[in-house]
Amino acid sequence: MSPLEGGIGAGMSGIDLSRPLGDGAFRLINETFEQYRLLVFHGQALSVKQQVAFSERFGRLEKFPDPKDQAEGYETVLRVSNIDRDTGNIKPVDDPGHKSFTLGTSSWHIDSSFRTLPSRASLLYGKEIPAEGGDTMFADTTFAYDALPEDRRAELHNLIVVHDFEETRRRHKLPPRPPEVQSATPPARHPLVTQRENGRRALFIGSHAAGIDGLSYEDARALIDELETLANAPDCTYRHKWRPGDLVMFDNICVMHQAMPYDLVNSRRLLHRTTVAGERPLARVGSEL
Ligand SMILES: [Fe+2]
Repeated sequence: MSPLEGGIGAGMSGIDLSRPLGDGAFRLINETFEQYRLLVFHGQALSVKQQVAFSERFGRLEKFPDPKDQAEGYETVLRVSNIDRDTGNIKPVDDPGHKSFTLGTSSWHIDSSFRTLPSRASLLYGKEIPAEGGDTMFADTTFAYDALPEDRRAELHNLIVVHDFEETRRRHKLPPRPPEVQSATPPARHPLVTQRENGRRALFIGSHAAGIDGLSYEDARALIDELETLANAPDCTYRHKWRPGDLVMFDNICVMHQAMPYDLVNSRRLLHRTTVAGERPLARVGSEL
């Protein structure tokens, strides 16, 4: 294990994730993940089934209901791609579903932050990577929280932030999803500052953050934007330049991410994502852990 450049996350070598992991290797990965919140494994060769098997060591996986999004028919594996699953061709850039996905993932966000129970982690596995661009940026909000003066931190501890998937669509001027789809993920309330069992405190923000209880939309937006700017500072971020065979696992409570641009018309990009579901609400500062 070696910390990544800038101190965000850690690289792990000498582990073949395609094989069943012994308890010792799994414990090492789990403990390193707890400590660093972002892990990079290079040079893996994973089938969809093997990625699922590794991901499931960390808990139950979230499901992606639309078959068009699923890799090889696995409902727990999301294709993150500009390549059409059925034809193998690059999707038209004006394809509505592709356009909204590209816009959504290009904003700083936390996967599944709009769920009642936020997810624990996502695992992204690089299959096809553009020659240029398409990097993923990660921002560790525990560093942003630590950078706040103590009196500012205390002001944030009791705030409740509302996360709503529709907020990201509104901000990109995309039409709302049908009511029956929206009703499956109604707005969810979470502490703005959450505390992990190891004592680390994180800002639970990102593009789905739609408001803060007790504040006007404008005031909430201004505060969220201020915190996001703080979290996006170079000393809180890591830029991952993908290579085929990379697996990046990141914490979905303390780490925001965004996809960087690439040539959507001429370059092929395919990542497989699995997401480990959360099992309990986020803990507030000072609550029983
Ligand atoms: Fe994402």
